[in-house]
Amino acid sequence: MVMANLMTVFLVMEVILTGFRFGAYGLNMNYYLMSCPLMEPVVKDTLNKALQDDPTLAAGLVRMHFHDCFIEGCDGSILINSTKDNTAEKDSPANLSLRGYEVIDEIKKKLEKQCPGVVSCADILAMAARDAVFFAGGPVYDIPKGRKDGTRSKIQDTINLPSPTFNASELIRMFEQHGFSAQEMVALSGAHTLGVARCSSFKNRLTQVDTSTTLDSEFAKTLAKTCSFGDNAEHPFDATRNNFDNLYYKSLVTNNGLLTSDQTLYTNPKTRNIVNSYALNQALFFLDFQQAMVKMSMLNVKQGSMSEVRQNCHKIN
Ligand code: HEM
Repeated sequence: MVMANLMTVFLVMEVILTGFRFGAYGLNMNYYLMSCPLMEPVVKDTLNKALQDDPTLAAGLVRMHFHDCFIEGCDGSILINSTKDNTAEKDSPANLSLRGYEVIDEIKKKLEKQCPGVVSCADILAMAARDAVFFAGGPVYDIPKGRKDGTRSKIQDTINLPSPTFNASELIRMFEQHGFSAQEMVALSGAHTLGVARCSSFKNRLTQVDTSTTLDSEFAKTLAKTCSFGDNAEHPFDATRNNFDNLYYKSLVTNNGLLTSDQTLYTNPKTRNIVNSYALNQALFFLDFQQAMVKMSMLNVKQGSMSEVRQNCHKIN
């Protein structure tokens, strides 16, 4: 009896402590514990069903979360539709190939039925990215919740997304502006273990004398063949596009990186050793990746009057 009581006290303390661990950001692990207790299973089940039908959506959701967080913070601004007075982030050329909006909509629809006006679109996207990584075989990690949805989404802000032609120094500088070290930037780039890029994103490597990166000659021929089908023809980042593993880094070591911004991580001495360490040790990559993703998921989270819980992820209330 005494033991059982003690266990209960420990359990309650753990819940409270975990809950307040990220209190400084207004976020916590158990944010919806009382207001929407079945939220987690709804997110997981809906996502798993969608990914069973189309495993390639895992890549789309992880990328969408990144593009959300790097512009105006993780506030679901990427989900907002353009109106006649405003062209939104999602219509920027850098975002036109984002995929997975319908999964977020389905989760939101179910949650609005269960607990109307409670779970933010920004939280849904952050959780969907987390669960997509796990679905694809990557690390399991949790994120604090309680992000609010932003009320600004402007195409011009997307100028702050990294370009696929950036070299390592430019990438380091841009990620530093968001508080990430070079190592964290290289770990986050490992998300390119999932998914594809279109020829328009890598054709610079075939047409220009690209002195910043090296490109395997056989791989160059394969890429040229892909591009013969046009700018929208897709090529996977590595040989296992739906598996979250460290093959991306192994490809960089053999000069089979797809984008300039991928291969530069190996070409540049500042980041080469980090690439080598992830290519050799997948567990290390998983550990650094999950920590960097938690950090990214908390970028510039919104509180106060300039934020809300959107009823429809595509529209400001
Ligand atoms: C380091 C700077 C980065 C650059 C320059 C970059 C650029 C790109 C580009 C150009 C594409 C292909 C777009 C297309 O051709 O349609 C892409 C795809 C992708 N990016 Fe990044 N990215 C970067 C970092 C990240 C990060 C930090 C993440 C997530 C944490 C991420 C996740 C993805 C994923 C998963 C895809 C595949 C999407 C799909 O198949 O639909 N990227 N990225």
